[in-house]
Amino acid sequence: MHFSQIVIPAVALLSGTAQAIPTGDLFTRQSRPDNHTLNRERADAVKASFKFAWDGYKTYAFPNDELHPVSNGFSNSRNGWGASAVDAFSTALVMQIPDIVDTILEFILTINFDETADQVSLFETTIRYLGGMLSGYDFLKGPLANLNSNDTATDLVLKQAERLANNLAFAFDTPTGIPSNNLIFNPQGTDGSTTNGIATIGTLVLEWVHLSDLSGNKTYGELAEKGESYLLAPKPASSEPWPGLIGTNVDINTGLFQDASGGWVGGDDSFYEYLLKMYVYDSTRYGHYKDRWVLAADSSIEHLASNPSTRPELTFLAEFDGQKKIFESQHLACFDGGSFILGGLVLKEQKYIDFGLALVNGCHDTYVSTLTGIGPEVFRWVEKNTAANDTDNPPPPADEAAFYEKAGFYITNGNYNLRPEVIESFYYAYRATGDQTYRDWAWNAFVAIRDNCMVGSGFAELNDVNKVKGGGYNDFQESFLFAEVLKYAYLIHAPDNVWQVEHNGKNEWVFNTEAHPFKVWGPPI
Ligand SMILES: *[C@@H]1O[C@H](CO)[C@@H](O)[C@H](O)[C@H]1NC(C)=O
Ligand SMILES: *[C@@H]1O[C@H](CO)[C@@H](O)[C@H](O)[C@H]1NC(C)=O
Ligand SMILES: *[C@@H]1O[C@H](CO)[C@@H](O)[C@H](O)[C@H]1NC(C)=O
Ligand SMILES: *[C@@H]1O[C@H](CO)[C@@H](O)[C@H](O)[C@H]1NC(C)=O
Repeated sequence: MHFSQIVIPAVALLSGTAQAIPTGDLFTRQSRPDNHTLNRERADAVKASFKFAWDGYKTYAFPNDELHPVSNGFSNSRNGWGASAVDAFSTALVMQIPDIVDTILEFILTINFDETADQVSLFETTIRYLGGMLSGYDFLKGPLANLNSNDTATDLVLKQAERLANNLAFAFDTPTGIPSNNLIFNPQGTDGSTTNGIATIGTLVLEWVHLSDLSGNKTYGELAEKGESYLLAPKPASSEPWPGLIGTNVDINTGLFQDASGGWVGGDDSFYEYLLKMYVYDSTRYGHYKDRWVLAADSSIEHLASNPSTRPELTFLAEFDGQKKIFESQHLACFDGGSFILGGLVLKEQKYIDFGLALVNGCHDTYVSTLTGIGPEVFRWVEKNTAANDTDNPPPPADEAAFYEKAGFYITNGNYNLRPEVIESFYYAYRATGDQTYRDWAWNAFVAIRDNCMVGSGFAELNDVNKVKGGGYNDFQESFLFAEVLKYAYLIHAPDNVWQVEHNGKNEWVFNTEAHPFKVWGPPI
């Protein structure tokens, strides 16, 4: 593994032989053992799929939010601001497709972020629209300036991001500063909910702090940090069943947690992801976020790691309700392997990399065990050390028993919603180790998605990953197909570049949870 090489110069420095080492060379891209060269055939195939889906969207759906690929229709589930176009921006940039970049750049300036007929999700709007615009701005002002056809227009992208954030900012106007998630624009209001969840509260800070850093207006970052502060010091104490692992719902009027249940699953997931990524973004300002990630990571290894009874060599992370464990996980949770690997690289802790690779291996098995080669939305297993009379950990239903015997998990929701997390974690595993196996896994996953989901003018969701052809389509193409699935599938086969995750932990870029890369703000770690 490449990881061991970062240990050598540290030892050399301590023993006073630093002079003998050419400055920084062991850390630089030029001198790394090169397992990150272009696989042109695969990269081109992923790019071709991106262009195919873009053409379908452009022809039948643009500038609406998303394409219905089977019927060549469209819908506006994200306020009608062109979610697929904004989400495709940073992927068109890293794939370096000038005409698509120009189309999206011009389009962004025309979006009317002041108006929408529908409820606005603070979280979804932040990760897709703010994230997409800030990433495009970073690339066009930085390493992809060669694709910046109109610098005046690029400056206006940042203005659009500020305009959108100004329209969203009233969400934080609550007694505690914890934001409401579901907003109404005209007249300003909310859906009336008195609680918000840790994923939707805790997955704003990277985007809003970056907007502050780029614009010079400190308010954005301060608003998001204030909401986050309640998650960094959760109250009451019972809402933190193990150090760093916390409940899900928080009262926006009191700041008190309402429960002690959670995990690395949907509703909680990217809260944990951002604790670490804030430290990658700026280690000087966000050391205390990293400390919370370390607590959560260590508690997860100690308490949530679980091996299924029929395949004890597999590792999954359980959910929890207090200290009671629930042996269930999700496609969404499969970002966890990537998060542990990134943590290991950045903190130079081999144990996190090893544990992350074990999680990656488990999620890979959820893919290769099904008929389509794609993993399910939700799955369960029986923990290996379970007493037969343990009613909290029941055996699978009879019609799932044979599948469970072989696979080590059984499917409780077989949908595939064009989610990226498994390929995302393959990407981190590959960047960390250089092991070509992870490239092959990502390629096989991409081919399975292409074979099963590509239909009509784009890619559709599947009803059941364990039926022939996915058991039929759901006629909907999520915008994150562009932002995430095709980006990670491409980048793992693309050559080294500054925006790629670094095996030596010295990242110049960090990906938001929608896979929009941001330029790191702080000094190298
Ligand atoms: C650049 O973009 C600005 C802002 O949209 C526009 O006014 C201007 O005409 C564009 N310039 C060119 C050369 O297209
Ligand atoms: C800074 O952002 C806040 C929050 O959206 C906004 O109210 C304020 O007007 C902005 N300040 C400037 C100078 O743009
Ligand atoms: C389960 O069985 C064990 C003995 O095998 C016993 O000690 C334990 O109390 C039982 N638990 C329940 C919930 O019945
Ligand atoms: C890196 O690539 C070389 C061939 O280019 C191969 O021999 C080596 O096994 C690879 N290393 C890993 C960790 O996969």
